[in-house]
Amino acid sequence: MSYKIVPLIGEEEVREGIRQVAEKINEAYAGKELHLIGVLKGAVYFMTELSKYISQDIPVSMDFMSVSSYGASTVSSGVVKIVKDLDESITGKDVIVVEDIVDTGNTLSYLLELLKDRQPASLRLCTLLDKPSRRKKEVKVDYTVFTVPDKFVVGYGLDYDQRYRNLPYIGVVEFDD
Ligand code: IMP
Ligand code: MG
Repeated sequence: MSYKIVPLIGEEEVREGIRQVAEKINEAYAGKELHLIGVLKGAVYFMTELSKYISQDIPVSMDFMSVSSYGASTVSSGVVKIVKDLDESITGKDVIVVEDIVDTGNTLSYLLELLKDRQPASLRLCTLLDKPSRRKKEVKVDYTVFTVPDKFVVGYGLDYDQRYRNLPYIGVVEFDD
């Protein structure tokens, strides 16, 4: 099947959107310490960019976890498996889970429940992209940078069959029929 990548959100726009969300986080977490949890691999670019704009007055620590996702298909299986757990305890910490995209909500609803059981002081969700039209499980998203239509998107950490994560912008995969 042939396809092309059509630009959707440009590099500068992505960066500016992330900067604005970081400002909101800076206001909300003033006087606190912040523990960011990135969901591998998609959230890496977003988490890196976001964390650069967190105020130096807010001490930031980071950890990563990996859960099973789509594989080579663009259709969610609904099956979530922890491939790599956190290195550190989150008990008593103010935690923000950083994700690339909330699509069906399967991954995040499972992950947030699991993390809640470990009793962080607070637990919020920050996503680069939200595709609310696809939601199957309700997820409370605290910070969204961009809401996107029901299209398969790549770039800025998001992949299609493990490719295109390193695109500096967000594009839509358009399949020829
Ligand atoms: P969920 O359907 O909300 O559980 O999303 C699971 C994962 O699927 C996300 O974290 C992404 O890694 C991946 N995903 C969902 N939609 C897209 C997309 O449009 N492009 C690339 N990956 C996606
Ligand atoms: Mg992901």
